Amino acid sequence: MTSAPTKSSTERRTRSGAGQPSWPFVIVANRLPVSLTRRKGEKHWTTSPGGLVSALTPIAQRAHGAWVGWSGSVDDRLEPFEHDAIAQVPVTISRQDHHDFYQGFCNRTLWPLYHDAVQNPEYHRHWWRSYVAVNERFARMVAETVQADGAVWVQDYQLQLVPALLRALRPDLRIGFFLHIPFPPAELFARLPWRRQVLEGLLGADVIGFQTERNRGNFLRVVGQYTRAQASDAGPIRHDGRRLQAAAYPISIDFELYESVALAPDTEPRVERLRQRLGSSRKVILGIDRLDYTKGIDHRLRAFHELLLSGLVKPSDAVMVQVAVPSRERVAEYAELRRRVEELVGQINGEFGEVGVAVVHYVRRNLTPENLVAMYRTGDVMMVTPLCDGMNLVAKEYVATRFDNSGTLVLSEFAGAAEELTDALLVNPHDVDGIGAAILSALTMDPVEAAGRMAKMRAIVRGHTVHDWARSFVADLVPARQRRSILGG
Ligand code: F6P
Repeated sequence: MTSAPTKSSTERRTRSGAGQPSWPFVIVANRLPVSLTRRKGEKHWTTSPGGLVSALTPIAQRAHGAWVGWSGSVDDRLEPFEHDAIAQVPVTISRQDHHDFYQGFCNRTLWPLYHDAVQNPEYHRHWWRSYVAVNERFARMVAETVQADGAVWVQDYQLQLVPALLRALRPDLRIGFFLHIPFPPAELFARLPWRRQVLEGLLGADVIGFQTERNRGNFLRVVGQYTRAQASDAGPIRHDGRRLQAAAYPISIDFELYESVALAPDTEPRVERLRQRLGSSRKVILGIDRLDYTKGIDHRLRAFHELLLSGLVKPSDAVMVQVAVPSRERVAEYAELRRRVEELVGQINGEFGEVGVAVVHYVRRNLTPENLVAMYRTGDVMMVTPLCDGMNLVAKEYVATRFDNSGTLVLSEFAGAAEELTDALLVNPHDVDGIGAAILSALTMDPVEAAGRMAKMRAIVRGHTVHDWARSFVADLVPARQRRSILGG
């Protein structure tokens, strides 16, 4: 997507116009749903990476709300604009913020700490100071954007201080917060030198949402331990004379949208072309992930390699396709993962490929929605094996595209999605032998059993879409009279 944004009503309705903020519903996330890149001095907008954007874009479009976030490019001072039927309100991130707030505190402290410390988190006071300063900037921008008595929905770990900062500026608002990634067990969270401040930031919200009950339980435990709030498993949290709610709201996808793209007339020819290029008689084992060390990409490559080495899988029978969406490339651990993955792909192809016939196809780029769905339709076995993951929407997207109940999902026990998709082949993603065994069962599964499992998973995803997710969160956040205008319909 590279279309140009327009100014339209957005500017008039925020601070640069009549002087009165006038959006009744505002989503706040670290990134805007579109990211800015410059090529030969020209601006290009592309869809921002990650499950958060794909989940919230349809909600923001339906709500005719504003979205406050960063454009993805440093030191830009952009005016509000409209794009994809969403009023986009940019917050400036300087080069220094990018280093200390984004790459530092967000992605080298919080990200690994909240993901079971699968990489060692680093704690630096200047990164924390930058996190505070950027959260303050977001809170001020939101305060200037939302109308009196409006509702604000703050997203994810980058902005955990915004709820309390915003409440101090605008006590008239209803404030929700949703954490897209796991909330860690108390033993891990306790390491954070600023644990009390983070919890007090979150407690500024009226409703705090988590992906799973387990995450909510982890949160309640540390609230009781490190703050003066009263938290129990039953009933609301009491804090500062207010009552607030912490609950699990498992996120989902737009099932109909994915299914309809899968059924669109030009999808099948794309799938056919892909199949022919991969070798029509070979089963396709597919992985699609952000190139992130939490996703377990290297473990699954090792499992496939060992199956080839053992002779249990022959290069003529199966081929692996790994799509890796570039992510956080300047963070050292991500660069190291890329090196490891590319080395493994090279090694496996070197040992088992032929000239013109690879056994692992590795594609490092973002796919268009049409190509993504064609890829899902091509995968006979879908590998979603993160070491730790809040939900994982790839698992749900795959299921939504399998309208004929074909295909098998291999899913990590440590993805939030495993709580719902219990008919997947569930694996411990650290257990390379276990992953190999799951690949083998998927490749050899009786088609009737596979179809039965897929049908059950499809019913679950169809029965709880991203719209249901948003509806249940917004129902807890705002009074009934405001809900209709936010959720439409
Ligand atoms: O879902 C986790 C998340 O960090 C989102 O907050 C974010 O939009 C997405 O992954 C992509 O990450 P980043 O914004 O760091 O590229």
